[in-house]
Amino acid sequence: MHGTLIRWRDDFSVGVAALDEQHKQIVDVVNVLYAIKTGNTGRKELYDVLMRLRIFTETHFRYEEVLFKYTNFHDRDAHRALHTAMIAETARTLGIVENAVDTDVSPLLVQLSHWWVDHITGADRKYIGYVTKLGLP
Ligand SMILES: [Fe+2]
Ligand SMILES: [Fe+2]
Repeated sequence: MHGTLIRWRDDFSVGVAALDEQHKQIVDVVNVLYAIKTGNTGRKELYDVLMRLRIFTETHFRYEEVLFKYTNFHDRDAHRALHTAMIAETARTLGIVENAVDTDVSPLLVQLSHWWVDHITGADRKYIGYVTKLGLP
């Protein structure tokens, strides 16, 4: 697909099927977002994609944070702070799309997309050794 930012690779796996499925869903939405960043997509369509991303984001972060609760993952407070900041950033972008019709949001979409790539391929990898010990499928 033209404009695809990230292609799922098996080595992105964090060893917990539910988390991998959530990451795959997020990668799909991020690719849609990245592909439409410079197109003349209508605001309504963009809003709907961002809302989907927001719901996936909040659900996914909660899931990860519940798993952290049952591990001694040393970096969980810092990781949670990254999640909190991202939820705020997504909400802020949605607010701009909803209210400021003339504002060019493409830099924000690029920023959001890159954040996700970095998070899944960076920060999330640090908890693998902890969450896999929980023995979830
Ligand atoms: Fe994640
Ligand atoms: Fe995370």
